[in-house]
Amino acid sequence: GRIRHYKFNVVTKNANRLCSSKPIVTVNGRFPGPTLYAREGDTVLVKVVNHVKYNVSIHWHGIRQLRTGWADGPAYITQCPIQPGQNYVYNFTITGQRGTLLWHAHILWLRATVHGAIVILPKLGVPYPFPKPHMEQVVILGEWWKSDTEAVINQALKSGLAPNVSDAHTINGHPGRLAGCKTQGGFHFNVEKGKSYMLRIINAALNEELFFKIAGHKLTVVEVDAVYVKPFKTDTIVIAPGQTTNAIITADMKSGKYAMIASPFMDSPVAVDNKTATATILYTGTQASTPTSLVSAPPQNATAVANKFIDSLRSLNSKKYPAKVPLKIDHSLYFTVGLGINPCPTCKAGNGSRVVASVNNVTFVMPTTALLQAHYFKTKGVFTTDFPANPPVSFNFTGTPPSNMATTNGTKLYRLKYNSTVQLVLQDTSIIAAENHPIHLHGFNFFAVGKGIGNYNSKRDPKKFNLIDPVERNTIGVPSGGWVAIRFRADNPGVWFLHCHLEVHTTWGLKMAFLVDNGNGPNESLLPPPKDLPQC
Ligand code: C2O
Repeated sequence: GRIRHYKFNVVTKNANRLCSSKPIVTVNGRFPGPTLYAREGDTVLVKVVNHVKYNVSIHWHGIRQLRTGWADGPAYITQCPIQPGQNYVYNFTITGQRGTLLWHAHILWLRATVHGAIVILPKLGVPYPFPKPHMEQVVILGEWWKSDTEAVINQALKSGLAPNVSDAHTINGHPGRLAGCKTQGGFHFNVEKGKSYMLRIINAALNEELFFKIAGHKLTVVEVDAVYVKPFKTDTIVIAPGQTTNAIITADMKSGKYAMIASPFMDSPVAVDNKTATATILYTGTQASTPTSLVSAPPQNATAVANKFIDSLRSLNSKKYPAKVPLKIDHSLYFTVGLGINPCPTCKAGNGSRVVASVNNVTFVMPTTALLQAHYFKTKGVFTTDFPANPPVSFNFTGTPPSNMATTNGTKLYRLKYNSTVQLVLQDTSIIAAENHPIHLHGFNFFAVGKGIGNYNSKRDPKKFNLIDPVERNTIGVPSGGWVAIRFRADNPGVWFLHCHLEVHTTWGLKMAFLVDNGNGPNESLLPPPKDLPQC
C-alpha cells in the first residue's frame, strides 16, 4: 500500500447555526472535519497539532489497529492526551478493511464537533461486490447545542442530573431550513436522473440513535461498519452513534427537490426530543432551496421499524468475503449494561444522588495515566485484571428496577489470551431509562450472533444463534430491556476499550476494557510505542 500523510490542526472556530454563533473546537477549522481517504493496505500518518486550551486525542473508530494500539486514541486508555501546544503522529496500517468509518475526538465531549469520515477504498483494481455507483457522497449525521458542550456535561456532573439534550440534529453540519432558523440553508447534493449514488452515512451524534430517510427513494444497504452485507432495500435506515452504513440510491423519480431527514430513535415513549434535520437532493435543473417533496419521520419510539432494519443485516459471507464466526468458545462472558442511582451528598439538584452507569455493576474509573502504557511498562497500581465475567448478583429482568443496582468503582480490565475466542452476551438492565445502548468495542470487529427481549437464557437462546452469516460490525445496539450476543477472536494484543457510544452514558461509567496478551509468534505482539507518544 501507499503512505498517506494528513495534518489535523485542532483549532477553535466560530460557527453559526440556528441563527446564533459560538466558538467550537474543530479540525482544520471545519465542521464536520476533513474526510480521511485511503485504500485497503495503505499506511496512514496523521499529525495532530493541538492549538486549543483543552487536552485532545483522536480515535479512528473501527480501524482494527492490529498491533498498533498506540494509535487507537481513547484518552487514558491507549494514550495520554495531547496537551495544548503539543502534537502526536497517529501511525497505522489499514489491514483487511474497506468501507466507511469515522474519526472523532475521544476525550470529554469534544467529539460533538471534532469528527469526520474515513473512506477506505478497496485495493487498486478490486471492484465493489455490487455495481459501481456513478458517484459517492459522505453524509454525516450529528447534533448541535446552542451552548458549549463541555459546559453542558460539567454542569450535569455537578448536579447529578441528566444533561440537556441537543438543540438540533444535523446533516453534514446543518440542521436544514425546516429546523427553526429559516434563513440558513441545509446541506444539498445534486443528482442526475437515472444515475445511482452511494451514500456513506455516519452517525457522529453524541447521544442519539437516528432514523434516516429520503423522500420518494429507496435505499439499498450494501455495507455497515466497513463490512459488506447482503444487499437489501429499505425506506428507513436506523443508525446508532459510532455506526456507519453505505446505501445506494437511484435517481429514478420525477425531477424535483427531495428531502433527506435524520430524526431520533429511542425506545422510550416519552418524546424527549423530536427535532428532525433536513437536507435536500436536487435533480439537475432545480435550484437549492427548501425541499418540496417531504417525508415524515418515524415516531421516536418506532421500535418495530428499527428492528425490521436491524434484523435485515447479514454478512455478505461470499467466497471472497467469508464470515469467520468463531464456533468454539474459550471465554463465555455475560455483562449487564445499564444506568443506576448512587448517593452523592454534594448533588443538590439531584437530591443527594446522582445517575451512574456500569457494566456488571462496576462503574469504570478513568485512570490518570494511560492503561496501555501502564501495561507495556509494567507500572503497578494503575489497573486490576479482576473485571467479573458475570454480574456479582445474578440479574433478573422484570421490567421494574431489580435489586442489584448498586455499583462499585474501579479500573478493572478483563484479561484475554491472545487468539482466544470470546462470546459476550450484553444484557440491558433497563434501570431508569428505556434506552438502547450502542456498545462499541475497540480493536476488533465482532459477529452479532443473537438478540432477544427480556432475560438471556443460556440454555435456550444459543440454539437460535446465527453462526452462518451474522452481521459483522464494531458497534451494536443492545435493545432496551433485552440482550445481544456477540463473538470475536482476540487476535489483537493491547488494551481495548468497550463502552456505550452514547457519550453521556460513557461519562457516567458505562465502560470497561479488555487486556489481550501478546502471542508467541513473531507477529503476535504489540509493537513498541512511538517516540512521540504523549506523556501524562
Ligand atoms: Cu467511537 Cu471509544 O469510540
